Amino acid sequence: MLALRYLINNLSKGALYSVQRNASASVRGRTYSAISVCMSSRGVKFHNVNQQFREKSSTSSPLAISAVSSDNDAVSISWADGSSTKFHNIWLRDHCKCKQCYNPATYQKELNILDVPLDIKPTNVSITDQNYLSIKWPDSHETGFDGAWLKQHSYYGERDAIKTSDQKKQLFLWDKKIIEANMPCPFDFPKVLSDEDELFALTHGIIKHGFAFVENTPTEVSAIEEISIKLGGFVMETHYGKAWEFSNEVLKHADTAYTSDYLRGHTDNTYFSHPAGLQMLHCVGHDGTGGLNLLVDGFCAAEKLRKYDKASFDFLTSTTVPFHYKSDSENIHLKAHGPVIELDPFNGGISEIRFNTYDTYTLDCLKYADVARFYKALKAFTGLTCAPENQLWFKLVPGLLLIMGNWRVLHGRSSFTGKRTMHGCYVNGDDFFGKYRAKAVAQNKN
Ligand SMILES: [Fe+2]
Ligand SMILES: [Zn+2]
Repeated sequence: MLALRYLINNLSKGALYSVQRNASASVRGRTYSAISVCMSSRGVKFHNVNQQFREKSSTSSPLAISAVSSDNDAVSISWADGSSTKFHNIWLRDHCKCKQCYNPATYQKELNILDVPLDIKPTNVSITDQNYLSIKWPDSHETGFDGAWLKQHSYYGERDAIKTSDQKKQLFLWDKKIIEANMPCPFDFPKVLSDEDELFALTHGIIKHGFAFVENTPTEVSAIEEISIKLGGFVMETHYGKAWEFSNEVLKHADTAYTSDYLRGHTDNTYFSHPAGLQMLHCVGHDGTGGLNLLVDGFCAAEKLRKYDKASFDFLTSTTVPFHYKSDSENIHLKAHGPVIELDPFNGGISEIRFNTYDTYTLDCLKYADVARFYKALKAFTGLTCAPENQLWFKLVPGLLLIMGNWRVLHGRSSFTGKRTMHGCYVNGDDFFGKYRAKAVAQNKN
């Protein structure tokens, strides 16, 4: 890991920061600006709240089943820690993992739910001394569950608390003050590409903070394609291409990003049904002034809205807003819709921000009575994203790649002079999280 020291230069009244690397340090001979002091070591560790559930289940564990009973609807389990859980009979039958019901090679169910009566009821339930729940069904089929697995997948009572705390442990929400005091160190491009553990640490860092920096990134456009494939397996190809180069000198697409104007914080692809999960940005050349980069933690801003203006928060989570991208030269008109703040339906946590005031489409889909409420809520959230205390400003330079979680973090830039050339690339969220999940599960031997 590179040991970097940065000097902070406060450029204006606290809104804009540029940090110059210590004069003794340079990347391939270039002194460059980066963000803030790297305060913490990047000892990224995957936090798994389910660690306890992966420990070998035994009857002496607090996760041991102490008693079991069944009735017409459910099997009730009492645990050694004093808690109790209920599982519907049909749920237990549906989750049978015997070779007849489940293919362990493909992780797919073989059981046809049409073969299971709604009112199915065990003929017998018992506990073995290996903390194993054994169930016999009326057709003589037998199902077995490890107690720890059942506890992990309990959906009775404490489920919401478990899932919510799981999400909270994964995320580090930030505003300007918090992130500048806890700035994650940049990753190293060659190391990320050659070391699986480093790649996983980068992946986890992106999820935790909503962004990450990768230094020593080659200035060829193929470099961001290469790291995108490492992170997600595939590049997300769009009308912009796979990995693309753009500058303010040529308006290749009908988008303000291709100018030199100030760009308010926004997420990309709001006009897609499934916006990209990640966006890479690499400034490979700028011969003028300005052009500082902006990040805002959309989850943190939304949580502030939830805390201080619950009515606006609720409105933005429950109201569908249309977005579009129309380009005459490309002969396309993309349209999609979604709430500005999307909630995880299982735990109420924030799962996605879809926020782009440039790409909002004609608003003729709301009820008359809701339009005034919409503008009040939109202004409240926009105000939070534009508040200096929620904004992190810095300057991207050649070699320093920015990777953003586009479902969470807003990005923007200040206006600039001169020619500024950027490289960009998207990765599908499903591809990125899919690779991360597989690695996280493998690492924890679950
Ligand atoms: Fe953008
Ligand atoms: Zn079975």
